[in-house]
Amino acid sequence: MQKIAIIFTALAFLTISCQSEKKEKEDKGGIKIGTKKEEVSAFDTGKTIFNGKGKCYTCHKIQQKSIGPGVVEIVKIYQEQNADLVAFLKQEAEPIVDPENYAVMKTNFAVIKNFSDEELKAIETYMIAAGEGKTE
Ligand code: HEC
Repeated sequence: MQKIAIIFTALAFLTISCQSEKKEKEDKGGIKIGTKKEEVSAFDTGKTIFNGKGKCYTCHKIQQKSIGPGVVEIVKIYQEQNADLVAFLKQEAEPIVDPENYAVMKTNFAVIKNFSDEELKAIETYMIAAGEGKTE
């Protein structure tokens, strides 16, 4: 009878310690994910949107002109004229790079208008950096 009590206690103890170990692992996992999220830079966010849901890459290459002007050219003109890229993306500023083809760019505002200020800022950060030669 005593033996059974000992085994039972031991089992109960094992179960409890196993559970707390498992919880610790989950906690650590949670913290790790949290940190990783904070580490995603505006550049990376912008790059992901530019090449992903923004579909910008379909019309904008970095170096050369395709359907739209290259990012290098856009950034050069924006810096020369001290213009606000986010304001353009919010349709609050007129096109200054290639106004004749603005109608083509305009088709994409249906997508862009759903982006948050933070996302637009991230796109700007990415475009400026990419326009200056940064790739990662
Ligand atoms: C369907 C093709 C197309 C897509 C998709 C597209 N663009 Fe454009 N974009 C253009 C064209 C064409 C121009 C040149 C006309 C102009 O200057 O407005 C342009 C111009 C621009 C300019 C310069 C505006 C200016 O002042 O003249 C910026 C900045 C820009 N695009 C950003 C973006 C971003 C960011 C995205 C993705 C969220 C995007 N574009 C998606 C075709 C596109």
